[in-house]
Amino acid sequence: VKRIGVLTSGGDAPGMNAALRAVVRACKYYDLQSVGIRQGYEGLINSDMIELGPRSVKNIINQGGTVLKTARSAEFRTPEGRLKAYKHLKDNNIDALVVIGGDGSFTGANIFHKEFGVPFIGIPGTIDNDIFGTDFTIGYDTALNTVIEAVDKLRDTATSHDRVFFVEVMGRDAGFIALNTGIASGAQDILIPEQRDSVQELCESLERSEKSGKKSSIVIVAEGEKLGGVYELAKQVQQKHPEYDIRVTVLGHIQRGGSPTCHDRVLASRLGIAAVEGLIEGKTNLMAGIRSNKVVFTPIDEAIKKHNEIDTELIKVANILAI
Ligand code: F6P
Repeated sequence: VKRIGVLTSGGDAPGMNAALRAVVRACKYYDLQSVGIRQGYEGLINSDMIELGPRSVKNIINQGGTVLKTARSAEFRTPEGRLKAYKHLKDNNIDALVVIGGDGSFTGANIFHKEFGVPFIGIPGTIDNDIFGTDFTIGYDTALNTVIEAVDKLRDTATSHDRVFFVEVMGRDAGFIALNTGIASGAQDILIPEQRDSVQELCESLERSEKSGKKSSIVIVAEGEKLGGVYELAKQVQQKHPEYDIRVTVLGHIQRGGSPTCHDRVLASRLGIAAVEGLIEGKTNLMAGIRSNKVVFTPIDEAIKKHNEIDTELIKVANILAI
């Protein structure tokens, strides 16, 4: 490889800029050229690209979002869109791609590779931590810290008013954010898509906490839980317990923004360099990840199809502490 194209795709995540910076600087270090592709695959389709060098990625390691911008490209899902993308890739002499994003972004790169043989390596960037082949995805740690800061604030009101707060956190298919922030913020109950919960059990948990002397409670609900959403849950609990003073807070996209934590910056820096080194070694259709603090490459098909399991020990921890 001589010239690597790099893009960010799918939902933004804090630390994507740090990964971009690492890719660009690793390219320079190994005497390769790097090209930034704007707005994910849209930038390939529209030939919206920019030459990058070590100085063009200065002062971005601390910035949330992605300076390259991102998109979920509908056109790239069509064969015509991908053909346009391939033409522009060739016109710009790009030999290989680094794709920073989630499983949707990797699926696109994988199809593109099958059709046109363009080598690529994926870097997992999503706050959801739902990608197989890495212990942590870029942005997850920052999102966790954003959530606990917000829930700590909500707890002030919950305590002052003796209220029950239902807090919805992100994670459309995965409960990693909910489970970990639930433990870290002392939630009475945590509802995640991976577990079969019921309104009955939730009510019992709240009743137990009341009997044990608790006057206020936090319930963390993952966006993807299967009981009809946070408002519906709150409504059903309120019907059973009209005496509870219940409030609902949806944290939403504040979880996706902000300056990345040290953990996310270091993770992104390591994976950015690993991706470039992987391409130099002739690797392709792989995702760079970190497992047990070592860089590992996982076949992209596995990264897309398999799922990280929720740790049952963490569920036990949450249950014991909610006594
Ligand atoms: O995948 C990351 C994520 O933040 C999910 O947790 C959430 O469901 C989704 O993206 C929201 O995406 P958007 O608002 O960008 O469409």
